[in-house]
Parts: sequence; structure tokens; C-alpha cells
Amino acid sequence: MTRTLTILGLESSCDDTAAAVIRQVGDELPEILSSIVFGQNELHSAYGGVVPEIAARAHAEKLDICVREALDKSGLTLADLDAVAVTAGPGLIGGVMSGVMCAKGICAATGLPLVGVNHLAGHALTPRLTDGIAYPYLILLVSGGHCQYLIARGPEDFTRLGGTIDDAPGEAFDKTARLLGLSQPGGPAVQAEAEAGDPKHFQFPRPMLNRPDCNLSFSGLKTALLRMRDKVAGEKGGLTRQDRADLCAGFQAAVVDVLNEKTRRAIRLYLQENPATPTVAVAGGVAANTAIRVGLETVCAEMGAAFTAPPLHLCTDNAAMIAYAGMERFKAGARDGMDLSARPRWPLDQTSPSMLGSGRKGAKA
Ligand code: KG4
Ligand code: ZN
Repeated sequence: MTRTLTILGLESSCDDTAAAVIRQVGDELPEILSSIVFGQNELHSAYGGVVPEIAARAHAEKLDICVREALDKSGLTLADLDAVAVTAGPGLIGGVMSGVMCAKGICAATGLPLVGVNHLAGHALTPRLTDGIAYPYLILLVSGGHCQYLIARGPEDFTRLGGTIDDAPGEAFDKTARLLGLSQPGGPAVQAEAEAGDPKHFQFPRPMLNRPDCNLSFSGLKTALLRMRDKVAGEKGGLTRQDRADLCAGFQAAVVDVLNEKTRRAIRLYLQENPATPTVAVAGGVAANTAIRVGLETVCAEMGAAFTAPPLHLCTDNAAMIAYAGMERFKAGARDGMDLSARPRWPLDQTSPSMLGSGRKGAKA
């Protein structure tokens, strides 16, 4: 008989409260029966960034409503589920705890198995949920708190080839938006402005390209932008709409160039070990950027690698990816107990030394 698995996923590690129900029949691609995301932008907008205490309180208030909506939309009840998957880290600890407590409550009341999920694994496995790509593959994880190249070999088997030594690209997009008076989250706002800009008008640096490895740095771009903004504003007494668009276009082009070149290097490294499976994927919020997606697609085509980028709504934080990563762990026999703890830090590759400290959006693996 064909096995059907139905998993509820919960996500609350940053500023999105999310719940989703996914179902897999046999070995078919899982179906996302519902995916509810309650954003918190309006709660944090006055502070110019995510305030952890406000985020944690909002998650605690909204999680049960979110779960109810996800179940209602899927047309199912708790009795139809096989397990509950929840983000257990890394992230802002108050939010992660809210999610873990909510999941434990559901499991204690229903007897359902509990599966803790690494948020980064959720992003990294999304191309398997959306496109069914097989292990192993090279994944570029680019979000508000993370930027790393990983070889994915299994739901808990990742090797990091390199990553950012300072800011994540999403953080750099958000800071750029703040410096130019644009709305948050900065990525979509900067992308929209960049469309009307000339990427060559301002000369942005291409950090770390003189180094042969896959490590990246984005904090210098923000400093360069600040200097250019102040110079133009000083000369003209303010920024014109065109200046703002040119600054955004120049910044975005620099991020694209750096990601393209470092991806070439990561693909070369990956292929040395995995010549028979030239598969590359990108995931995380910044993977929603059109110029970045197009750039990576071109690099992969150049190098003869297949390229996968999940749809935009599954690139940014959501609970379908958590339900899916939980499903893979569940199928591998993983179960967590009521002692599952919330982890602010939780690198996917436990063997590589941590490169970063704790950032604005929580711990950076
Ligand atoms: O994965 P995500 O939803 O949350 C984290 O786990 O960090 O990523 C959010 C980040 C934000 O920094 C946001 O500005 C960025 O993704 N982002 C974008 C775009 N859409 C979202 N960055 C560049 N271009 C976009 N279109
Ligand atoms: Zn994320």
C-alpha cells in the first residue's frame, strides 16, 4: 500500500510567524496543502530592524491562530497528521522558544511525534520539496542572516565550502535601503529602485575576489555606499531620485558579480568531489532577487550545471520548508522528545569552525 505522510510545520525564528501542512503520497513530490505566513514588518518598522522581544511576543500571540488557519485551509484536523515539525534554531531565541513550546503543546495533547528542524536545513532542502532534486547538490544559502555554500548529501549531512566573513547579503540590502530612506525589508525595495538605475554610474568594490576561496564579505559595500551617498548629497545638497536608483543599481551589480564569481569557484570545488551530479540550487530570502537568480542561472549554464531556484514565496521564511525538512528527518526515523531545546546557534556543518557572531536577525551559523 502507498504510504501517505502528512506533516504540520511551524516557523518562528525571526520575524515571520508561519504554519504549513504538507502531504506526500509515496515517492511523489509533496503537496503544500496550506502555507500561512504572518509577517511582523509593521511591528518593527519604527525601530529600523527586528526587535527580538517584540518578535517573541508576537509569535507567542499568533502561533495558535496561524496553526488553526493552516489546518483549516488544508481541510484537515490534528487527527489527520503524522507528525509536527518545528524550527528549533538557529534564530532569535525568544521566537524559537515560542514555536518549540507550541509544537510541544500540540504533541503532548495529541500524542503526535515531534521533530525539531534546523531553519537553515529548511531553506537548504526547499529545492527538493519544489523540484525533487536528488542528493548530492551544491546549495547557496543567501538570506538576511546567512550566506554560505554547502554540499547537501542528506537531511543532516552538509559540508560548508565557504561563506560570508561579516554581513549576510540580505543584511547588506536592508542596510542599503535604510541608508537611502527606502522601506524594509530592504531587498525588494533596493531591487525595485535599481531597475531605473545605471549600475556603472557609481564604482562599487568587488570584495574578496582577489582571494581564491569561496568566502565572501559584504560589509565594505555598505560603507562604500555610505561614502558615495554623503559625497553626492554634499555636492548637490541632497539625493535625486536618479542618484538613489544609480546607487541601488551599483550596489546590486556588485553583489551579483561577487556571488557569480564565488559560485563559479564553489561549483569547481563541488565538481571535484561530485562530477556525476552537477546540480546547483539557491535558497533563502535573497534568492528572491531577480538579478541574482539570473546571474546564477547564467553561471550554471556556463559551467554545465543544472540550476534550481524555488519560487519566491518559498525562498523567504515559511513553514512549508520546515514541514518538509521535518518530513525527511521523520522518514529517517528521527523523533524528538519533550526535552527538545531551542538553539540560538546551530550550524548546519558541525565540523567547520563558526565564522560569524550573532547578527541583527539572530545567530549566524
Ligand atoms: O530567508 P529570509 O526570509 O529570512 C532570514 O532567514 O533571514 O530572508 C530575508 C532577507 C531580508 O534581508 C530581505 O531584504 C531579503 O531576504 N530579500 C531580498 C529580496 N527579497 C527578500 N534581497 C534582495 N532582493 C530581493 N528581492
Ligand atoms: Zn530564513
